[in-house]
Amino acid sequence: MGLVFGAFMSFVASVMKVPFLDLSLQHKAIRDEALAALTATYDANRFCLGKDVEDFEKAFARTLGFPRALALNSGTSPLHIAAMIAGWGPGDEVIAPPFTFISTVWGVSYVGASPRFVDVEEGTFNLDPAKVEAAITPKTKGIIAVHLFGQPARIDELAAIAKKHGLFLIEDCAQAVGASFKGQPVGTFGDAGTFSFYPTKNLGGCGEGGALVAKDEAVHTQARHIRVHGSDRRYSHDIIGGNFRMDGFQGALLNVKLPHLATWTARRQTVAARYLAGIRLADVRLPEQPAYGKSVFHQFTIRHPRRDALREHLAKHEVGTDLIYPVPLHRQKCYASLGYGEGSLPVAEKAAANCVSLPIFPELTDAQVDHVIASVNAF
Ligand SMILES: Cc1ncc(COP(=O)(O)O)c(C=O)c1O
Repeated sequence: MGLVFGAFMSFVASVMKVPFLDLSLQHKAIRDEALAALTATYDANRFCLGKDVEDFEKAFARTLGFPRALALNSGTSPLHIAAMIAGWGPGDEVIAPPFTFISTVWGVSYVGASPRFVDVEEGTFNLDPAKVEAAITPKTKGIIAVHLFGQPARIDELAAIAKKHGLFLIEDCAQAVGASFKGQPVGTFGDAGTFSFYPTKNLGGCGEGGALVAKDEAVHTQARHIRVHGSDRRYSHDIIGGNFRMDGFQGALLNVKLPHLATWTARRQTVAARYLAGIRLADVRLPEQPAYGKSVFHQFTIRHPRRDALREHLAKHEVGTDLIYPVPLHRQKCYASLGYGEGSLPVAEKAAANCVSLPIFPELTDAQVDHVIASVNAF
């Protein structure tokens, strides 16, 4: 069903009336352009950073309204780099939501600090600013806000809390490229905004990729040095760094895809509007659309008390679905030592138990969307 995520991450869409996701349609549509760009990069031997990546950084920043952007080798990397720049370390706590992908907090752990999970809002699955404020202690050194499923968090309130308490704020925009909060692009409110270009993302590469955006040029420059072994000149290493370079092929493909992003996003929003208007099932809870934010609908995630039965029903009607995310981070084994018991973050736990994500990608036809709606309503 949907995509098969194997050890080497293949993207195989099964034959269903409505697959959960089918990347092959998008890649077929841009095949000639994509292969021409990839061939040019191959012929020029531009394999690590280089012109394609630089062109992408400029176009990404210009197109999405960022002051500047740094291309990296995954969406996990900017979270790691930002944690290094924030200066977090052992004994420090960083507030983060438990209902997200695990990468959101890997950087915190990599630098020896601890995530402090704070519950999310029922309506949007995003951090609840009131609970964030209440959770701050002398150990709190930062906040990571996630714009989950493409829906902006209440980032103005979170930025105000961060400012008031002198906390480093990261916006994890991995699922929210192009989303905006009160007209301002997400990623521009915090000290760093982080993006993923994993192939299944709204803007996906042909491999791994990510980006960091920072309004403060000093943060950008530090991140740029960390990206290449802590150096700005060859064999001179002023700070601890790593290898976080984007490869040339990703830059080349992302340059081909970026001009299509606005159209693809608009189609996601149209599909979502059709779901929101058409799904009428008792006990179903649709994702809320607060007026402050413009979602880019990376996922369309509904809730139902009999989620597993609904999923089975949809599978029988040849509708692919996925569970994103079935186990919240505070209940993962890797964070068992933090001591969060069952019921400690009830909104996230209920979301994990009741959520099911429906197909949403730009190439879905209206007939497919209507089939999903009819199938849900027939449950
Ligand atoms: C919310 C969130 N944060 C971070 C990441 C990490 O991105 P990547 O898989 O590119 O490392 C992802 C993507 O999987 C994500 O969904």
